[in-house]
Amino acid sequence: SDPLRLGIAGLGTVGAGVVKIVREKAALLEARGGRPVVITAVSARNRDKDRGVPMDEYDWEDDPVALAGRDDVDVLIELMGGSDGPAKAATETALKSGKDVVTANKAMLAHNGQALAELAEAEGRVLRFEAAVAGGIPIVKTLTEGLAGNDIQRVMGVMNGTCNYILTRMESAGLTYEEAFAEADSLGFLEADPELDVGGIDAGHKLALLASIAYGTQVAFDAVELEGIGQVTIEDIRQAADMGYKIKLLGVSRMTGKGLEQSMSPCLVPASSPLGQLDGGTNMVVVEGDQVGQIVMRGAGAGEGPTASAVLGDVMDIVRGTRLTTFGAPASSLKEVTPARAATP
Ligand code: HSE
Repeated sequence: SDPLRLGIAGLGTVGAGVVKIVREKAALLEARGGRPVVITAVSARNRDKDRGVPMDEYDWEDDPVALAGRDDVDVLIELMGGSDGPAKAATETALKSGKDVVTANKAMLAHNGQALAELAEAEGRVLRFEAAVAGGIPIVKTLTEGLAGNDIQRVMGVMNGTCNYILTRMESAGLTYEEAFAEADSLGFLEADPELDVGGIDAGHKLALLASIAYGTQVAFDAVELEGIGQVTIEDIRQAADMGYKIKLLGVSRMTGKGLEQSMSPCLVPASSPLGQLDGGTNMVVVEGDQVGQIVMRGAGAGEGPTASAVLGDVMDIVRGTRLTTFGAPASSLKEVTPARAATP
């Protein structure tokens, strides 16, 4: 049967990972989806960079918006990043020209998720974002599909691997914040704008996206109470350790009678708890549903394989003909958020 044709905009680490999976697992993907999955065209800023995988078989577009509008593309894979600009323009063009979109772009959806979800539904298209939250952990699918029969009581977790790495190195190696930050930088962990990581913004984006699915509300990133890790000192970490705690950049969201609480801030967690034992650049998401109880998911929140894995999960939903909405409910039904202040933990 006809192949599903992908156009990939953005060929960084994740884009190269997606290309590799589509090439190397063609038989597996076709067997599971019932149709071949192929790449027809790609776009990125630098055409000549060596990405460790042959690119010359694919048509090249300098302009991601042109890529998004091509007749031989069925699904735009948006991996450029940025809350506005080319990523948003390409996403809109794709949806308006009859294509589905898979994105890893947490900033774009945290700021424009409602409008883009409405556009997707108005056009009868699908817009999915598993790779935008917690990398390889399939938490978007888990909330949208597996837990759809639950009232969700709480969503929390560690959703920025870079911050968790920095805090872990301060705790286990006695590094200062500045030393641990420099180490994370030398390992290439930091976003182009490091404040997105250490300011808690990136993790706040992710928390706000999960809250929308969990509580049937519009994405309300501006209502997240945000505090980054820049003020955490070794003394704080030592004092916490003396009491049997660790400091984690922890996101918590909860719907209360007063409204939606969303906070992303350095918190004390018991050292012996699953969150307390989450060391290094890993992510963990904890969900509590009225029927299922507590679910804990742990895994790589970034990196080539894990993030590309999440992109392919969405592609396979599309190949199988999913009609899932972006946030698990029709966009028009999502309620506006009444923000409530979280009780200090
Ligand atoms: N900067 C992010 C992190 C990358 O460190 O978790 C994945 O979104």
